[in-house]
Amino acid sequence: MAASPLKKTRQEALPRMQPAMMMFSSKYWARRGLSLDSAMLDQQRVGAQASRRPSFGPIDEKSGKDCRVQTDESGKTAVVFALKNEVGYLVKALRLFQEKRVNLVHIESRKSKRRDSEVEIYADCNCSKPEFNDLVQHLRQNLNILSLNSPDSALSEEEELDGVPWFPRKISELDQCAHRVLMYGSELDADHPGFKDAVYRQRRKYFVEVAMSYKFGQPIPRIEYTPEEVRTWGVVFRELTKLYPTHACREYLKNLPLLTKHCGYREDNIPQLEDVSCFLKERSGFVVRPVAGYLSPRDFLAGLAYRMFNCTQYVRHGTDPLYTPEPDTCHELLGHVPLLADSKFAQFSQEIGLASLGASDEDVQKLATCYFFTIEFGLCKQDGQLRAYGAGLLSSIGELKHALSEKASVKMFDPRSTCYQECLITTFQDVYFVSESFEEAKEKMREFAKTIQRPFSVYYNPYTQSVDLLKDTRSIENVVQELRSDLTTVCDALGKMNKYLGI
Ligand SMILES: [Fe+2]
Repeated sequence: MAASPLKKTRQEALPRMQPAMMMFSSKYWARRGLSLDSAMLDQQRVGAQASRRPSFGPIDEKSGKDCRVQTDESGKTAVVFALKNEVGYLVKALRLFQEKRVNLVHIESRKSKRRDSEVEIYADCNCSKPEFNDLVQHLRQNLNILSLNSPDSALSEEEELDGVPWFPRKISELDQCAHRVLMYGSELDADHPGFKDAVYRQRRKYFVEVAMSYKFGQPIPRIEYTPEEVRTWGVVFRELTKLYPTHACREYLKNLPLLTKHCGYREDNIPQLEDVSCFLKERSGFVVRPVAGYLSPRDFLAGLAYRMFNCTQYVRHGTDPLYTPEPDTCHELLGHVPLLADSKFAQFSQEIGLASLGASDEDVQKLATCYFFTIEFGLCKQDGQLRAYGAGLLSSIGELKHALSEKASVKMFDPRSTCYQECLITTFQDVYFVSESFEEAKEKMREFAKTIQRPFSVYYNPYTQSVDLLKDTRSIENVVQELRSDLTTVCDALGKMNKYLGI
């Protein structure tokens, strides 16, 4: 919860939501009229996997998928989607195909075995890839039940993994995750400080457009921030930097001056994501990209697997600089970025992301909770004192002070128990979790990841920025070859060192 020392009356009257929590808290989903379960089911749709099946017959019921894309050699595409089993829903859905002038070659329906109240529709279309992508966008906007992988991301038959939620296999496929926004950053709640500000709302739409137009590999568009936005950032920057020397971990304190030097972290300047991304790439291999709004935990964590961090670019409303109901660029730039420049923290972050790829919804939720209590609200012990490394703390004056005060309850980070802790969004956390080091936290996450049920292991290939699945002797042998080469280099270095030292 982000308390404001400048607005005491509001702080007392209205609990401050912590921006970091918005991505993962069950209360967030409830606030949006969704239970976490239903949000996860949405995600199953999102994770629907491409397949080459000719019709309904062999589709795996256990996978929970209710929306699939197919493509065959001739370029035909097909969609399988779930609808409420009520009069009028199918007509409404088919009208969307008509509106986009997409020709349906074949259509089948069947009762859903997953939900009694639904039917599943198989629609075989004959259209080009751009037309198909346009159709999918149209379906999403109107029915809110489809969220698909584009046909060219389909796994080959050989690679297809039955019952495993779709996940990106190479870094460019993160475009699909980042564009699969659950709620756009321009959709403000009635209690949002900018709700009645037409100019602010228009500005937020601009940021949505920038993010939705962005594709992997492009330079991140530079934003010309308004004087008011810079002023708002300046207040946040000034107030937080007073606290950092006594509250932030040493890795943070080491990197912040570097960001000032290389990326223009100053009170009178809002750093540009493109500069930040280039800086991080050199320091830890992480990059950032603009995102238009809220992503599901699965899509957000998938980015971490590829050392990609999704960042908002908009600035909170200027009437209350120390309060924001959602993550904004102040939170990203001041909370997350300095730690992402640390190589051990980067490894830890990637470890959580890799564990999430293809994991069940239940396991993704556990990993998201671990993410929440470490990367967002984590504490560490340095020189016998507690220090903050979580971005939710490092971007919130009130909670940063609270978490390091005697009032806060602190426990050792252990993913096995931490993953069941409730994430709070309208108050400070009931408990914070402390790690001795990022290295220790990473090892614990690695052990925890072994408990996640997947029929394969994943190996991140930094040369191709892709994920290899280790599921048979051939794929494991390939990794062993790579490791052998690395070990040869290490042995050679040790030999030379011993010779030099006369051992
Ligand atoms: Fe965050």
